This record gives sequence, structure tokens and C-alpha cells, in this order.
Amino acid sequence: MTGPDRCFNLAFPGATDLTFPQLADVMTGTLLNNVGDPWQGGYGSNHTKSVEIAVLRWLGELFGAGDDVWGYVTGGASEGTLHAVDEAFTAHRDLVVYASAAAHYSVAKAARLVRAPLVQVGVDPDGRMLLDELRQHLAAHRPRAVLVVATVGTTEREAVDDVAGIAALCDDLGITRRRIHVDAALAGIPLALLPAADRPAFDFRAGATSLVVSGHKFLSTLTPCAVLLYPRRPDGQDRQPISYTGTADTTITGSRSGHTPLLLSAALFQHGLDGHRRRAEQSRRLAEYTLEGLHRIGWPAQRLPQAFTVTLNQPLPLPRPWVLGGDRTGRIICMPGVERAWIDELLADLTTQLCGRVHIPVSRGSFPRGDSRR
Ligand SMILES: Cc1ncc(COP(=O)(O)O)c(C=O)c1O
Repeated sequence: MTGPDRCFNLAFPGATDLTFPQLADVMTGTLLNNVGDPWQGGYGSNHTKSVEIAVLRWLGELFGAGDDVWGYVTGGASEGTLHAVDEAFTAHRDLVVYASAAAHYSVAKAARLVRAPLVQVGVDPDGRMLLDELRQHLAAHRPRAVLVVATVGTTEREAVDDVAGIAALCDDLGITRRRIHVDAALAGIPLALLPAADRPAFDFRAGATSLVVSGHKFLSTLTPCAVLLYPRRPDGQDRQPISYTGTADTTITGSRSGHTPLLLSAALFQHGLDGHRRRAEQSRRLAEYTLEGLHRIGWPAQRLPQAFTVTLNQPLPLPRPWVLGGDRTGRIICMPGVERAWIDELLADLTTQLCGRVHIPVSRGSFPRGDSRR
């Protein structure tokens, strides 16, 4: 969705408020390839691995990874999860993967690709993994090795699994051959920026053994990418350089973008912790405004604490092409870049539907001019 239609795209969480005109020349005029391991430059010199490592260290510090952080910039969060599942399965061939019914579809795909069994764990009404049910599954599959994929910000409602609780459960059951991968694609960075008293325990300090966050969701990189982090280089990685590239094959893909680390570093370092905290707070305020607006007009809607996501009963087709997701429950995700005027226009269209009237939209702010019915 480009240009003026951007305002209708409310169900898919890509921030659009940060842009990077200073990188235009390098983005469109230079070949960059961060092939293989970030810590090994390799034979090619046209890479941005030092920038990539700076991004990994910055995010590693945010999530409590410590000084030995390892990881890389992936093509997306799915690739990060695939890496974590493959790492766990390579270490333990009797691995069982556990994830909640609200986990992203990439978890099941990763388990299928490595041919590890997947156990789906039920969720509470908000979409959080049920730890009592997880306990029963873990006990039933003992003594097999464990990888629990916890979701921090589920796709549907932005529910946050209890990572500290999962680690405590594994301790309680004496499970030492274990991994906890945190899929924090959407909510990891905004939640990490909350004051300590409000911040859920979900990162390395809570027992995570790997974690992935998206770049194109909160950080507005405008092209898909993600950052995968481990607190240290996984044991057993083959660090022998490939003769062709001169770098170890420790990543899922060989060739990797050298441009996305530049976008990530521009987003992270130019705005800093305080800038990103402000962006997150603004999004939460807009989500609160959206929820209040929906309740005011009598439209059933919900929002979890700290979430950017407001879920609502799906409307019948509206006069304008609002994108609220393909499920029975619709979503408005108030990512940075979503404007209050767009929410007002959507509320006007929903009010019209409630009243059974035809609404002639009034253009306001950056909303497209005229009636864009189709
Ligand atoms: C929780 C979660 N995990 C993973 C993903 C997948 O990310 P990607 O499409 O970048 O692979 C998404 C994307 O919506 C997500 O919401």
C-alpha cells in the first residue's frame, strides 16, 4: 500500500514515521552483502558488518544479553525463529518444540523444516500461554530436550507470554536441556522501554536463551528485516570459514542485506532510548484514544495493557478500503506513523454503518482528498 492509501492499512504493524533520506544514495546505488557470520568480514569488502555488530550490541544491552552477545540481522522474524529452532535441534536431536496456540505461524513452519515435533499449548482468553497446560505437556514428554517459543506481543492481540514463569517451570521440573526462544517481533522494543515497574520480565534477564525483534515493525526500517540475539555464540557452531566467502556459515541464509543494518542503526542511534520511548508512548496514547472512540460509538473493542493493538468486531464492508485483517476479530494497530485523523475517519465510517447511513467522508489533515470508495 503506497502513497495516500497508507492511511487505510491499520491491521499490519509497520511503523512509517521514521524515514532515511540521508541513506538514499547508498540504498539505491551501492551493492552491499553481509554474507555469513557478522564477526567474520570474509573476502568481500562491500559489507556493513561493523554497523551490524553495533546494532546487535545496542539491542543486546537493551535486552540484558551481556557483553558476549551474538546474533545477526535477518530477513525477518520468521528467519530468526528458524535459526533458534535449528540451533536447539542441532544441539539436541530429541528436541520437542512447545509454542502457544496464539504463536505466529512461523514457529510451526520452523519445527516442520527441522522435523522436530511441535506441541501446541492452549491460551487464556487474552492469548497468553497457559503455564499449567505447558507443565503437563513438559512432564508428559520427559526426559526429552525442550525448546519453548514464547511470544511477546501475539499477532492478534499483543498478548505477552510469561517468560520468567516458563523458566521457573523448567527449573521446577529439573529440565536442564532447554531453550527459551522469545519471539518479540512486534512488542519487544516498546515493552523494553517501559519503566522497570511496568516492564514484563521477558528478556535474557528472565531466562530467554534467544530473542528476535523486527526492524520493520517498531523501528520503521520500511523494508522487512529483524534482529536475532543470543547472549553468547551458540555452542557447537562451526566457525570454519567457507572457502568461497571467507566467513563462517552460521546464518540461515548465505548472502544477507548490508542495507538493513544501516537502516536499523539510523533508526536506533539517531533517536536514542528517549526518542523511541516517546514514540512508544505516543502509540499507546493513540491506542487508548482509539479504544475510547470505539466504546463511545458503541462498537465492541478491547485492548491489553501497554498494547498498540486494539481488537474490534469486524465491520461489514465499509465504504472505504480499511484494512483491519482477515480474521473474525479485526485489528487496529496504532504503530508510530498512524495518525489520529485516520482513526477519526474510521470511527466516522463505523458510526455510519451502525446508523445504516451513507457517509460522505470529509478530508482532514493528511487523509486523502475526496471520496476514495472502490
Ligand atoms: C509475533 C510475530 N512473530 C513473527 C512474525 C513474522 O515476522 P516476519 O514476517 O518478519 O518473518 C510476526 C509478523 O507479523 C509476528 O507478529
